[in-house]
Amino acid sequence: MADPHPIAWLNDALVPLKEARISPLDRGFLYADSVYEVVPVYEGRPFLLVEHCSRLDRSLAAIGMEPVHTASEWAAILAILIAANGSGDMYIYLQVSRGAQYGRNHAVPDGLEPTIFAFAAPLPEEYPAQDTPGISAITQPEWRWGRCDIKSTSLLPNVLSKTQAAAVGATEAIFLADGFLHEGSSSAILVIKGDTLYAPEETNAILPSTSRALVVKLAAAAGLSVVVAPVPVELLRSADEIWMSSATRPLMPITRLDGLRVGSGTVGAHWLQVRQRFDQYRRDIASLPALAGRN
Ligand SMILES: Cc1ncc(COP(=O)(O)O)c(C=O)c1O
Repeated sequence: MADPHPIAWLNDALVPLKEARISPLDRGFLYADSVYEVVPVYEGRPFLLVEHCSRLDRSLAAIGMEPVHTASEWAAILAILIAANGSGDMYIYLQVSRGAQYGRNHAVPDGLEPTIFAFAAPLPEEYPAQDTPGISAITQPEWRWGRCDIKSTSLLPNVLSKTQAAAVGATEAIFLADGFLHEGSSSAILVIKGDTLYAPEETNAILPSTSRALVVKLAAAAGLSVVVAPVPVELLRSADEIWMSSATRPLMPITRLDGLRVGSGTVGAHWLQVRQRFDQYRRDIASLPALAGRN
């Protein structure tokens, strides 16, 4: 991609990222009154774009906003933005905020013009499946709000939790509540015991993860039993494997939890198998139009 001079999208036009300007009165800035998506792009093609667009509309509806674009319009905007950034592999961050207003009023006024902002950035480094190192995670009590199913930019607890994880050399902080697993600060968490994959049910407490939905399908296709239900902490702590999944880090193996080994402490056989299927899936759909998928 066109690093170090990336091109962004602001409202209705391309703009050099370093020249993009948003009002300090924007409610996204003042109240975190905004929602967002992160879409991975492989070989110039946005991945799971339909799913990201429908989750964006779901988040907008949950905060009382109308969709700002159809999926086809988003596909056209992303095509322009991806091309402007040199195509290839990257991720697109896109945010829709309520817009700017003069004066301070928590209650949402009528007639605001949403701010639409998107930029491209490099994806984190990926290893070939068989060389992927295990990562470590810590747990901590849930302390976020009651609508974690909305992909809101109100992320302070996530930011502080992830920073706490980084301070002890861990990659992710996993939230636990009332003896059950929720999710990571920026990822979905899945648990493997024997030949069964356990996925927390999608309540208001966790984000409906686009990558997790695909991983669960691929795991079922690989012959794992899938249980979508509340996941007790004891199951997490006695897991054979723990998987972390997000759009920019699809399916990573967590091999240490709170400083203790997960299972054998090495990358699991089920993980490797499903990760290879994930990589194959990405290759298989690379040449399809952005809004087409296999499922
Ligand atoms: C809190 C949280 N949960 C789960 C996820 C995973 O969602 P997705 O797979 O759609 O990236 C994310 C991604 O950023 C997240 O921030």
